[in-house]
Amino acid sequence: MDITKQIHNHSTWFTLTNDHDVSIIISDFGATVIAINTPDKDGNVANITLGFMHSHYYAQHHDYFGATVARVAGRLGGASWNGHQLDQNSGTNHIHGGDHPSISYSHWNLIKLIKTDGQIGAVLQYISPAGQNGYPGRLSISAMFVLDQNNKFTITYFGNTSAPTLFNPTTHIYFNLSGNAQRLINDSDLQVNADEIAETDAANVPTGTLLSVAETPFDFRQKTNLGDALSKLPNGLDTPFKLNTQTDSKPQLRLQDPLSGRKLAMHTNSNSLILFSTTGFEGDFLVDGTRTMTSQLGLAIEPQMLPDAPNHPGFGNIVITPDSPMIYQNSYTFN
Ligand code: GLA
Repeated sequence: MDITKQIHNHSTWFTLTNDHDVSIIISDFGATVIAINTPDKDGNVANITLGFMHSHYYAQHHDYFGATVARVAGRLGGASWNGHQLDQNSGTNHIHGGDHPSISYSHWNLIKLIKTDGQIGAVLQYISPAGQNGYPGRLSISAMFVLDQNNKFTITYFGNTSAPTLFNPTTHIYFNLSGNAQRLINDSDLQVNADEIAETDAANVPTGTLLSVAETPFDFRQKTNLGDALSKLPNGLDTPFKLNTQTDSKPQLRLQDPLSGRKLAMHTNSNSLILFSTTGFEGDFLVDGTRTMTSQLGLAIEPQMLPDAPNHPGFGNIVITPDSPMIYQNSYTFN
């Protein structure tokens, strides 16, 4: 197992490599997952996330490729909380923690590198001053990235605040298990342990109603081909799935690409996953150095508490106070 470091103009990339051909690149710009390289069934190693080959592209493309999104990742209707006006950066609503400046496009400090018998990793930290993006409280966020010898990659976010505020971060990784974005995600099979999705309005903000997935194209309780499901969803997926469990016992999501043989299993201690199929996301730029951005090129899997939680009873608590630091943990196992 090994950690190497590559210094670029505006960022440093840390590559974590285990003894089973899995390597993960983390950048201190936005605490971003630049790449996750895994072998296919024949041992060919390729990147299973969408990203860029050069560090300067990360400052140009503000679509959160692999980035940590904070303080609050999902949408907040009306962009306000407890009398505080937050950035209105999606119509009159707030999304991805706001943008003046965005935590996802800021420099994070390296706190330590981790090297133990079975694990390697890095801890990055960002101190968000009181008032940033409109949020009260000085919020310290630590992001711990750890890869182990069982091909499990765990991201843990620790929050500490000087005053009550909101904290609901995510990592915005777009997955494509074909490797180096060779094929669309339509070939993949998806399974999500969610009986319900959050209904959303025209601005994609939750209404507070939960809808059953039964007999809808959002029913992924059994393994389902993504191409089949997306053919019934003209706008694709940009959908909060309410998870049936918040425990660590069995994966809440499984994604697999039968052609390459690559599989991903995910655990989270949050109560939802927002799945975004990049439908309608066309761009004249290359991802992974190989392929022009297009619909269905990636599936963003964003673990977090249900979006707009402060405005809907039952959506969960995302208020952090000085007496109650918060920990969010998400893990991704590859095989
Ligand atoms: C999330 C949102 C989408 C889109 C993407 C990319 O998935 O739900 O609407 O904004 O992030 O930024």
